[in-house]
Amino acid sequence: MCGIIGIISTKEVTSRIVNSLKKLEYRGYDSAGIATLNGGNINEVKCEGRVDTLEKNIQKFSLRGEIGIGHVRWATHGRPSKANAHPHSSEQVSVVHNGIIENSTILKKHLEKKGYLFKSQTDTEVIAHLVTDYLKKNSLKDTIIKVLKKLHGSFALGILFKDREDLIVGARRGSPLAVGYGPNENYLGSDSYALKSMTNKISYLEDGEFCIIKKQEIEFYESEGKKINKKILNLSQGAISYDKGDYKYFMEKEIDEQPFTIQDCINEYVDKYNREINIHNFPWKISSLKSLVLIGCGTAFHSCLVAKYWFEKNTNLDVTVDIASEFRYRKVNFKKDCLYLFVSQSGETADTYAALDLCKKNKMKTCAVVNVVESSIARVADLVLPIYCGQEVGVASTKAFLGQMLVLYILTTKIAYHQKYITKKDYQSKIKNLLSLSNSTKKTLSSENNLINIGKVFANAKGSMFLGRGYSYPIALEGALKLKELAYVHAEGYPAGEMKHGPLALIEEGMPVVVLAPRDEHYKKTISNMQEVIARGAKVLLITNKNNDEIISENIWEQIAVDKFDDELTPFLITIPLQKLAFYSALEKGYDIDKPRNLAKSVTVE
Ligand code: AGP
Ligand code: GLU
Repeated sequence: MCGIIGIISTKEVTSRIVNSLKKLEYRGYDSAGIATLNGGNINEVKCEGRVDTLEKNIQKFSLRGEIGIGHVRWATHGRPSKANAHPHSSEQVSVVHNGIIENSTILKKHLEKKGYLFKSQTDTEVIAHLVTDYLKKNSLKDTIIKVLKKLHGSFALGILFKDREDLIVGARRGSPLAVGYGPNENYLGSDSYALKSMTNKISYLEDGEFCIIKKQEIEFYESEGKKINKKILNLSQGAISYDKGDYKYFMEKEIDEQPFTIQDCINEYVDKYNREINIHNFPWKISSLKSLVLIGCGTAFHSCLVAKYWFEKNTNLDVTVDIASEFRYRKVNFKKDCLYLFVSQSGETADTYAALDLCKKNKMKTCAVVNVVESSIARVADLVLPIYCGQEVGVASTKAFLGQMLVLYILTTKIAYHQKYITKKDYQSKIKNLLSLSNSTKKTLSSENNLINIGKVFANAKGSMFLGRGYSYPIALEGALKLKELAYVHAEGYPAGEMKHGPLALIEEGMPVVVLAPRDEHYKKTISNMQEVIARGAKVLLITNKNNDEIISENIWEQIAVDKFDDELTPFLITIPLQKLAFYSALEKGYDIDKPRNLAKSVTVE
C-alpha cells in the first residue's frame, strides 16, 4: 500500500511533506521517512512507526529543503524497521515506492556483482541502485525509460536526483499516482487527499506513464518517452470533514455518522416526491442484461454477497459473486450480456482494479460502486455509482459498508422495475422503505444495549463464531471480519445451517457466539441452530428484531433487538451492533482502533 508525497517549490517543504504524510497514514503505518535536497546533498530522516515520531526527528535534525519526497510504508519485503523505511537512497538518487518489484532478487544479485551495497531488505532499494547505474551512461529521461522496462511488478515511484534540484520524477504501473499543480510549485501524491490542502488541480498518471515535475511545469510521457498531454481535473470537496470532532476515534465517529451518510446517499439517488430512482446514465440497455458478476475484496466483497440475495430475489439475473484476487487469475468465460460490477470504498484496491482492467480488456460492460470518485477504479469503469459517504478514515470499514449495500440495493430496485420483475406498487413500496432507512439506523444506534460488557467477553475469548442465514449470512462474515481485524480475536462467520457439517466441533463451554436471527423467513431455522450451539456450551449473543409476544429461550446469554423493519433492509440494522461489538472489544484490549496492526486502508499491492 504505502503513501507517497513529493513537493518541489520555492519555499520550505518539510512541514508540508509531514502534513501530507499524516493524511496518507491510512495507507500504511509501519514506518515513515522523508528525503530533501539541500546544498547538493540528499538528506534523509526515517523512523519505524508513525509520522508523529518522524516529525519529532525532523525537528531534532532540523531537516530543510525546497524539494523533497516522503513515504509511509506498509511492508511487503522486509520487516517494519528504520533500515527498511523509505526513501531508499544511493549516492545519486532517493526513491519512494508503492508496490512490489517482483524481480528484485535477480536485479539485486546483478547489482551486487557490480559492487552496489544494499542497506535494506526491501525490494525497493534495487530501484535506487538501478537508476544510479543507468545514469552513468544515459540521460535522465532515457534512464527512467530503461529502468521502468527492467522492473517487473507494480509501482508508483517518486525519485529525487542529487544533482537536479529542479525536478522530481514520478512513474506509475499498477499503483495509483496523482500530480497536483500549485503556484510556483508542483506536487506528487498517492492520492488526492494528500494534496488537497495545497491544490484542487490534479492529474492522474495512467499505467506505464511517467512525469518530470518542475516548479513551473509538469511534463508527462508514455512508456517509450513520447510526450503526452494530461487533463487537469478540479477536485470535489468531500461532504464530511476529515477531523474527529468530539470523538476519540474515527471509527466511532464513522459508525455514528451512518444515518447521515445513508440519507445523503438516498438524497442523491431517490426522488422522494415522485418515488423514483435517479440512475439514468446507464451506458447500456438494462433489459439486455442477463447476468451479473459482483466483485470486491474484504468488506466490499461482503456487500456483494448481500446484494446477490437482493438481485436474485428481485430480478431474473443470473448472479455470481467473486473475490477480486481470485477472479483476476481464473479463466473467466466472459459474457456479452453480463454486467461486471466492482465494489470498492477506496477505488484503488489493486486486485479489484486488476479484475476491472481484465473486464475492460475483454470489452465487457463495467460498473463501479466506489466512495472515492477520483479513484483509479472510478476512472476506468463505464458507469460509476458513488456511495456518497464522505472520507472513511478508520481502517475498518463501517459507513462505507452500509453505503455499498445501499447503492447495490438501489441498483437492484432500479433493475428489478426496469425488467418488469416487480410491479410499480412494489417498486414504490421499496422506495418508501428506503426513505425511512436513515431513521431506523438512527434508532438502532441510539438504543440501549450492553455491548461494552459483551465486547469485554469477546475481546478475551480464545475464538468466536458468527452465524446467520440468508441476508444475515454475509453480515455474519462481516461481523467476524470486524472482530478479527480490530480485536485480533479469531472469529469465523458461518451459514448457521452449516455448523453441523464440521464447525460445531469447535464449540466448547463458554465460547461466545453471535447468532443473527432477524424475524424473516429463516428465523425458526436459525433459532434451532442457535439451540444446537447453546446445547454444546456456547454463550450466545442473539441479534434479532423486537417482538414482545415471545421469549425465545432462557439460555441465551445476551440479546439485542433492533426494530422490526423490511426484511430486505434489515441487514443494515443488524450490522450496527456488530460494528460496535468489534469497536468495544478493541477498546477493551487497548488496541489502536483506527489503525489495526498489519493492515492499511488502501490495499494497492496484490
Ligand atoms: C474492512 O474493514 C477492511 N479493512 C478491508 O476488508 C476492505 O474492505 C478491503 O481491503 C477492500 O477495500 P476497498 O473497499 O477500498 O476496495
Ligand atoms: N515493497 C515495498 C516495501 O516493502 C513497498 C510496499 C508497499 O507499497 O506496500 O517497502
